[in-house]
Amino acid sequence: MTLPSMNVKAYLDHNATTPIWETLYEEVPKWMKSWGNPSSIHQTGRAPKNILREARKQIAEYLQVSPLEIVFNSGASEGNNTVIKGLAEKILLEPMQHRTEKCEFMCSTVEHPSVLKTYQWLENKGLKVHWIPVNQDGELSLDFYEQHLSEKVLLVSVMGANNETGNVFPIAKLCQLAHQKGALFHCDGTQLMGKAEFDFTSMNVDYATFSGHKFYALKGIGFLYIKKNLPYTQLIHGGAQERYRRSGTENTFGIASMGYMLELMAKEKNKILTMQLLRDDFEKQVLQRISDVRITGAKAPRLANTSHMMIDGVDGETLLMNLDLEGFPVSTGAACSSGNPEPSPVLLSMGFTRDQAQSSLRVSLGWGTEKQQLDLFVETLEKIVKRLREIKHGQKYFN
Ligand SMILES: Cc1ncc(COP(=O)(O)O)c(C=O)c1O
Repeated sequence: MTLPSMNVKAYLDHNATTPIWETLYEEVPKWMKSWGNPSSIHQTGRAPKNILREARKQIAEYLQVSPLEIVFNSGASEGNNTVIKGLAEKILLEPMQHRTEKCEFMCSTVEHPSVLKTYQWLENKGLKVHWIPVNQDGELSLDFYEQHLSEKVLLVSVMGANNETGNVFPIAKLCQLAHQKGALFHCDGTQLMGKAEFDFTSMNVDYATFSGHKFYALKGIGFLYIKKNLPYTQLIHGGAQERYRRSGTENTFGIASMGYMLELMAKEKNKILTMQLLRDDFEKQVLQRISDVRITGAKAPRLANTSHMMIDGVDGETLLMNLDLEGFPVSTGAACSSGNPEPSPVLLSMGFTRDQAQSSLRVSLGWGTEKQQLDLFVETLEKIVKRLREIKHGQKYFN
């Protein structure tokens, strides 16, 4: 795996983004020769159009859906905004007194900001959103869900897996309950890809969002799954691309990289188990060697690659900077919160205190992570934690 710089001993932030897969460095220049506009009807447009067709087929095959149900876009933030705003639009345009029966929404409190903030925006416009709580063990409250899921709910959004804790939610069950009440179901599947085994068709979701840069493809590219014949309003208006579902000239090379990676992923399912074994061994070592560490959400199902922990007596941002200096890029949580001293809203919503949230570290493994790298990381982590605790608490942690 190509590491970003010579100083990196192990890249351990795969939930923020994955490296570009090694063989793509050879494949992308080949696709770049087909630089034409895929919408052109002359010969220059034919090759890029074929690239799009092939990638759409590869993605559809991976998910076991129809190629017509895939819409290319710029990534999961766009996909999430498109689904939620598109479905809410009709209600927002109706005068309050004439609002249809189905005018409420449901969403978990631990969604990515591209979902959370979109729902907050809808709330500010007067729409009702039910926020489904998640407890400290990383379990979504089924009681709350069943109590508040009524015939009034138009759309439910629950992510496949959380980007910070790695907790995986029971989408098939939540979706089945939503459908029983006539609600549509949207799943942000961004973190599932390449990090968990999942059978997409049995989840039976109506809309799902994915992002190429989370599964070793290029950045700024993603796709949206829309189940056939379901309501959909495009967010980006313009040309006829994606059958008028998302205008704008397609990012041909990025799209090709997603198709390529999903075809590869179908053959490389063992990589998920390998990561899980490495992650479990890593956590065992951490718990043996460092005192007062709590692994977040460990009792609930988790992605194979993610280890989120709270380390008593240590400031997460300081720890992150120290680990970076030693050659280990990691995270305290969501990538977008880096450099932001505020504790993670996800952890606060799960009921952790500000101090606990600010002592967090997220280690996320990738397909290329090796045991020796993790062993070295644990050694370094132990050393830094000891030093930071000594500085902060004096004698308390000397023994
Ligand atoms: C769960 C989740 N959803 C959505 C996104 C946003 O994806 P993108 O960067 O493609 O907009 C991310 C990225 O951090 C994510 O982890």
